[in-house]
Parts: sequence; C-alpha cells; structure tokens
Amino acid sequence: MSRCLTTVWKKWFGKTDNGSKLYAGLDPVRVPRHVAIIMDGNGRWAQKRGLPRPFGHRAGAEALRAIVRTAAELGVGVLTTYAFSTENWKRPAEEVDLLMKLFSDYLDNEIDELGANGIRLRFSGQTDALSPGLRAKIAQAEATTAANGGLVLNIAVNYGGRAEITRAVRLIAADVASGALAPGDIDEATISRHMYTAGLPDPDLLIRPAGDQRLSNFLLWQAAYAEFWFTDINWPDFRPEHLIAAVADFQRRDRRFGGLTR
Ligand code: FPP
Repeated sequence: MSRCLTTVWKKWFGKTDNGSKLYAGLDPVRVPRHVAIIMDGNGRWAQKRGLPRPFGHRAGAEALRAIVRTAAELGVGVLTTYAFSTENWKRPAEEVDLLMKLFSDYLDNEIDELGANGIRLRFSGQTDALSPGLRAKIAQAEATTAANGGLVLNIAVNYGGRAEITRAVRLIAADVASGALAPGDIDEATISRHMYTAGLPDPDLLIRPAGDQRLSNFLLWQAAYAEFWFTDINWPDFRPEHLIAAVADFQRRDRRFGGLTR
C-alpha cells in the first residue's frame, strides 16, 4: 500500500487492519479524475425503518460528508453529486422544501470545512429557479472557494441532462445568429464548453446506489465513456469503503474508448 493511501486510511478510518486491506489493492496513479454519483435510495432507506422520507434525505446528506472527504483524500479531481433533478419538482411540496433546506443547511454548516480542505464548490443546473436565499448562498459558496485547488465538489441541483443540452444548443445558436460562430466551427469541444461542466473532465466513474441501473437524465453528454458501478445499498448507507470498492473495480476495467485493448 502506498504511503499516501496509508495516511488516508489512518486519518479517516482509524488504524485497524480491515481498512488497510480495503486500500491495499488501490493504485494511487489510476484514481478516477471525475466521479459522479446518483444519490438514490433515500426514500427507501427511510421506509425500511418506518421513518418519513425526510429522514432518508437527512441521512443522505450525512453520508455525503464522508464521501466528499474520502474522494478528496483519494485524490479524485471532481466529485459530481446528483442532488435534485429537474423532475424532482413533481414531489410533494413538503419534500421539495425539506430538500432545499438541506442544501441551504449543508452550505451553512460545511462551507468552512470544505474551504479549509481546499475544496472548490460548483453547482450544475438551473440554479436561477431556486429561491433568492439559496441562490445567494450558492453564489457565495462558489465565490469563496473559487481559488481552491483541491477537489471540485460539483453539486447538480435542478439539473437535467436534456435541459442542459437544450440550453447549450440555445447558447450556441445565439452565437451563430450573432455571427460570433460559424456552424462549421461547432465541434464536440464547443458543446462541452457550453455545458454546466465546462472546463471539467468528463466523469470516468459513475456510481448509482439503490439498485436501479439507469442514467435518469444525469450527465447525458458527459457520461459517454464513464464506467458504471451499481450497488443495491441505499445512498444513506453508502460509506467510504463502498467508494473505495468502486474505485478498485474501476481500476480493473479495460477502457478502450472505441479502440483496441492495449
Ligand atoms: C434520491 O432518492 C435522492 C434525492 C432526490 C435527493 C438527494 C439529496 C440528498 C442526498 C440530500 C443531501 C444533498 C446535499 C447536496 C446536501 P429518492 O428520494 O428518490 O429515494 P427513493 O428512490 O428510495 O424514493
């Protein structure tokens, strides 16, 4: 096990042998640059315990804290988490309100620690449709962490992959209409630059807990070559060791990008 990963283990998980074994197979050089997570199963987690759904979301927010720390310590460059989709507005108003409050509380409670650990916050989605109070906190969180050079924590809020592509097409069409861009000059890089994730690498590893094996309108453009990792565990039960298992599995994959095996 590398010295770096030993340090990670000792810092976050204690010193028992069990953790050392978890890290033992990881190659610190082949850590995914961008990990994306669909944080699914909060409702089912609560239901299984006879609790109202909000308890699942609260436990989900708690689970996220440890995963952010672990991703940062592993040297992941970008962690994108799907926190609220453009379709989630269809949920009961009380659940939507609770989720908005959780995002707001998360920013209030975590921003200092995130900042102190060099983490840069970024948001993907139609944030202009959120409440003025939450928008202000998002803007402040992005501004105060903008110069940080560590993990980019990209939170997808009011995000939909199709809506993102539609927005990009509109922006590009406006550039064409104004004469700033010739249609023949539009290439894949042009489209990537007009995504919320502009400037970030595409996800290498996409994790979905809670048993379903679909994209659910998440990062449709960016996930073209992502490796998928599924587990039946509900998000609130997702722990650093599950992230480590996903990364270990990722490192065993043969990524060919349409080419041939080396
Ligand atoms: C999907 O589970 C989860 C969501 C729609 C919300 C995700 C939000 C959090 C984890 C809260 C914390 C986030 C931040 C950024 C602080 P579901 O409710 O659809 O679960 P179900 O499929 O079991 O009903």
